[in-house]
Amino acid sequence: MSDALLQVENLKKYFMVPDGMLHAVDDVSFTLDIGETLGVVGESGCGKSTLGKTILQLIGPTSGKIIFDGEDISRVDSKKFVELRPKMQMIFQDPLSSLNPRMSVSQQIAEPLLIHKVCPDKETLNKRVLELMDTVGLARRYSDTYPHELDGGRRQRIGIARALALEPKMIICDEPVSALDVLIQAQILNLLQDLQKEKGMAYMFITHDLSVVKHISDHISVMYLGQMIEKAPTKELFSHTWHPYTKALLSAIPIPSLKNRKQRELLKGELTSPINPPDACRFAPRCNYACEECFKGTPKLEELSKDHFVACKRVRELNGL
Ligand SMILES: Nc1ncnc2c1ncn2[C@@H]1O[C@H](COP(=O)(O)OP(=O)(O)O)[C@@H](O)[C@H]1O
Ligand SMILES: [Mg+2]
Repeated sequence: MSDALLQVENLKKYFMVPDGMLHAVDDVSFTLDIGETLGVVGESGCGKSTLGKTILQLIGPTSGKIIFDGEDISRVDSKKFVELRPKMQMIFQDPLSSLNPRMSVSQQIAEPLLIHKVCPDKETLNKRVLELMDTVGLARRYSDTYPHELDGGRRQRIGIARALALEPKMIICDEPVSALDVLIQAQILNLLQDLQKEKGMAYMFITHDLSVVKHISDHISVMYLGQMIEKAPTKELFSHTWHPYTKALLSAIPIPSLKNRKQRELLKGELTSPINPPDACRFAPRCNYACEECFKGTPKLEELSKDHFVACKRVRELNGL
């Protein structure tokens, strides 16, 4: 039996905008195994949040398949959606805007339990809320406080408690630490990792910051303008970085050593518009290695070594493969 929890096949999400069709997610395929963490990395606007929302059915796909837990959920009716909801959850970047300002901490955490009627009585509900607060490291004395009275880290702990309440099999974490101070970021990342060890759920961890997912992901996918352009097991991606865009992303991670400073590759050139993009490599206009061929036809994602996929026509030549 396969260990796949989520299989995404040729997923597309286009938005009709005044200037044409915006290709937010364009032919994305990947698999997420049970209990695994997939890091999804790319610049702002490359389609990460749209990918997450489409998988969770918060918005409908334009085309493609989403198979979750053995079931095709690409197009589900509202009854099925209610059944699915507890199994797949999302944690957002800005907990303040995803929380209700008029609900106390305990009411926020109780909400998903009430909606899905998982606790038979008030006493069980209160007990479960306190348990969840303990699990995410929120002191019980905060039960009656409101989101605006708490710092970003504690607010994010409420978001995590809400996501955990229904014991999901998968959580899509959309930039969950991007709004937090570095020290708090580390605490929240550690908490997410500990929870995964304990409860075995899979994470799709979305971030614009490659250094955030380096230590927590089993696999990393790099997105550029709606497409996945490189994906590999994390160690492999860092030891053999093949796509010119991934190389540029990696070199942008600050390294506290003067010796390595000059290796930094800067991206230049115009960003291709995601509206009616041409049939060409979307990174080519900014790529230091682009040749004429790169502007003719979209490169396919090819498996160049075990589990290591790259979409670049010059990848073999440039890396001596
Ligand atoms: N509802 C929408 N209508 C039109 N365009 C959208 C909508 N949502 C997102 N987009 C566009 O889709 C692209 C991807 O957005 P998004 O998924 O938010 O990127 P990311 O999360 O990587 O920053 C962007 O160009 C954005 O402007
Ligand atoms: Mg986003």
